[in-house]
Amino acid sequence: MEESTFSRNEMEIIAKNRQSVCPVELAGGLDNSLRRWLQRPGKLLKPYIRQGMTVLDLGCGPGFFTIEIARMLNGCGKVIAADLQQGMLEKVERKIKGTPVEPVVQLNRCSEKGIGLTEKADFILAFYMVHEVPDKFRLLEELKNLLKPDGTLFIVEPKFHVTKKTFTRMLSLTEKSGLQVTGNPTVPFSRAVLLKNTY
Ligand SMILES: C[S@@+](CC[C@H](N)C(=O)[O-])C[C@H]1O[C@@H](n2cnc3c(N)ncnc32)[C@H](O)[C@@H]1O
Repeated sequence: MEESTFSRNEMEIIAKNRQSVCPVELAGGLDNSLRRWLQRPGKLLKPYIRQGMTVLDLGCGPGFFTIEIARMLNGCGKVIAADLQQGMLEKVERKIKGTPVEPVVQLNRCSEKGIGLTEKADFILAFYMVHEVPDKFRLLEELKNLLKPDGTLFIVEPKFHVTKKTFTRMLSLTEKSGLQVTGNPTVPFSRAVLLKNTY
């Protein structure tokens, strides 16, 4: 049986919210030392992040990956922390305020209608967020358009929410939207895929 970084009570809230977005009250379960130890964000992202890049952390939540990416940029480049919920962005804002990573983090509030960005990214991370979006095809098309020609999209979904069948269905949508699978990195407790533009 797989371990979880959420308590039993938090798991019950998650089950009730299966079809909706992760509530801000559960943000603590997404940013803690147990998850850092289990998923090792620095090691996981090291092959993809280079100084000078523009990175989009879509569905950033409380910034578990945003802050790690910002550190890796080491003062050169930009990470756009984008989320539907203002409460999540405020958590990121509080964490970075007055720290050395603050200048490389840009906050962006998304809407149900779209991400709301035009700037293209070298690397886009969508970690545990795609399953929360009702229209996945529209999202994938938008992500394809936000990728630089040689950019990489990294989608990671939680096994405890997303079955193999659902993940495969999502992969068929990536193909239809003009994205090509280039790898399947191993991420603990997760299903993961790397994608590039086909043009
Ligand atoms: C389960 S959390 C994951 C947060 C973060 N990526 C992590 O792994 O710690 C999913 C996040 O995606 C956000 N989200 C859901 N739908 C979204 C959308 N359409 N656009 C932007 N963010 C969205 C939620 O608000 C939530 O913060």
